[in-house]
Amino acid sequence: MHVRTTSPAPCRSGDDTVTEAILLVGGKGTRLRPLTVHTPKPMVPAAGVPFLTHQLARAKAAGVERVVLATSYLAEVFEPYFGDGSSLGLSLEYVTERDPLGTGGALGNVASRLRSGPDDPVLVFNGDILTGLDIRALVATHTSSGADVSLHLTRVEDPRAFGLVPTDADGRVTAFLEKPQTPEEIVTDQINAGAYVFRRSVIDAIPLGRPVSVERETFPGLLAAGAHLQGMVDSTYWLDLGTPQAFVRGSADLVLGRAPSPAVPGRCGDRLILPTASVAADAKLTSGTVIGASAVIGAGARISGSAVLDGAVVEAGAVVSDSLIGAGARIGARTVVSGAVVGDGAVVGADNELRSGVRVWCGAVLPAGAVRFSSDL
Ligand code: GDD
Ligand code: MG
Repeated sequence: MHVRTTSPAPCRSGDDTVTEAILLVGGKGTRLRPLTVHTPKPMVPAAGVPFLTHQLARAKAAGVERVVLATSYLAEVFEPYFGDGSSLGLSLEYVTERDPLGTGGALGNVASRLRSGPDDPVLVFNGDILTGLDIRALVATHTSSGADVSLHLTRVEDPRAFGLVPTDADGRVTAFLEKPQTPEEIVTDQINAGAYVFRRSVIDAIPLGRPVSVERETFPGLLAAGAHLQGMVDSTYWLDLGTPQAFVRGSADLVLGRAPSPAVPGRCGDRLILPTASVAADAKLTSGTVIGASAVIGAGARISGSAVLDGAVVEAGAVVSDSLIGAGARIGARTVVSGAVVGDGAVVGADNELRSGVRVWCGAVLPAGAVRFSSDL
């Protein structure tokens, strides 16, 4: 791989624009199953629209004009929904890997589609990150530092599920430790937040035709070759929506306005009801709940901090909190669903109790009163 070993003089000082972006949307979303059985993670609705819409809208707001979507798993569903991107004011291009190429391989695989010049900045996003990151500030950091790659870093309490990125006093990245295994490896609470600005020529240098992990191979390789990786710690809202709990929280935070997005389709107080949904007058919807198109909410139902997807039915007196009810699923009368995920088309009969961490598979049928929760067990 060819890399620059000395940093060039800062170019175009003060220029904080980036017009081209790559979105990595090819992962299998395994931790999010069963939501991702029929739908790739970025297409699962959050606050009423496929999650990816929020990322695209935020990129557009930061000046991005053209986005290349690096797809793999369930690749065929993206283009029919977003088309050429004109409805978002963007130009979209789709590239599909026949076999998944990993996060770095996916970047290399789309390099030839970029139109930026060799030294121009290209924005790269993981497709499951909900963040208030100031994208222009990241680009400005990249430009003023003359870095080869600039990374958005955030601080988390438990960094083990992420890439650790220690930096020196100038913010220059000194190591990249993906998913640390041992306590000795936990050298910082700064993690890779999944948004980068790359010098385009760095993307061109990623090897083709085989899987490459940007975190395990490209970044450590660049560091070893003396390249300049710059970290920008930004402690704004940040969430990786890789787990059901995180996804549900992210959707609610979008509705509540805690997570910024120009793409939330209009909210009413602390809930969002899509126009064709039908909600009983005495149903209580709170804490960022979203009710999808054609969903039906019965009398006296109470739903808080939850996402009820299109066409789902929540029957009378059901109580749903911090949960995701899949498209076309049905929750029976008086059933309690708390911190759980009900897959698309599943039917949960009346008088059940589904508690934390339960995942009901797509199309599964639970008879009335089949599941009860007892804290005495
Ligand atoms: N095109 C394509 N091909 N995309 C992929 C592939 C692939 O083979 N594998 C993963 N992706 C996409 C996923 O769809 C996701 O948007 C992104 O790459 C990151 O993959 P995840 O599977 O979500 O990774 P992670 O959450 O475990 O870790 C990553 O994100 C963390 C921040 O949330 C790493 O980048 C960590 O370093 C980082 O801290
Ligand atoms: Mg992730």
